[in-house]
Amino acid sequence: MRLVVGVSGGSGMPYAESILRALRDLGVESHLVVSSGAKRVMTAEGSGPQLADLTALASFVHDDRDLAAGVASGSFRTDGMLVVPCSAGTLAKIAQGFADNLVARAAHVTLKERRRLVLVLREDPLPRPMLLNMLAAHDAGATVMTASAGFYHAPGSVDELLHFVTARVLDQFGLDVPGFRRWREGEA
Ligand SMILES: Cc1cc2nc3c(=O)[nH]c(=O)nc-3n(C[C@H](O)[C@H](O)[C@H](O)COP(=O)(O)O)c2cc1C
Repeated sequence: MRLVVGVSGGSGMPYAESILRALRDLGVESHLVVSSGAKRVMTAEGSGPQLADLTALASFVHDDRDLAAGVASGSFRTDGMLVVPCSAGTLAKIAQGFADNLVARAAHVTLKERRRLVLVLREDPLPRPMLLNMLAAHDAGATVMTASAGFYHAPGSVDELLHFVTARVLDQFGLDVPGFRRWREGEA
């Protein structure tokens, strides 16, 4: 399996790190694209994962300015793309088909090829333009998610919250993250 992983400038780089690690452990080929906004957030937030932490986990890394990268073309086969975290700005670009960087272009290509596109948003509260863009992205074929963990598995740590979001995101691609407890699974 081959997935594109876009990282844009929302707060929540630990989600990107956790998902990239899970993809690596599952043997999925990942093509990482990090926006310039994401690089600013990593530096500003400081204590979280930095660019080198993410690139170390990816199979391939593409420059966000490189609109000639393989993932910019529909002829480059992938099994889909996820954007995590997906900023309000990147959501707007994807929803409106404005592809001025590689994250937005690869997402546009994923939609046009009718492959699975999962957007993991991180913003609160949600203003009307963002809500409309969420609906537009949904209607265009994307799966819109928020980086919000459930509590039915009684998490005891931040890692367990990250694990929950990671498992639910990768569920969208039919991938099973080891150790994920599904609601009432195994009950008669
Ligand atoms: C420290 C920091 C945290 C941010 N957190 C968020 C966030 O959680 N969600 C969001 O949509 N934008 C957030 N932003 C704003 C985006 O990074 C900004 O709009 C940026 O231009 C997005 O560019 P990109 O979508 O190309 O990555 C944050 C910015 C900074 C500096």
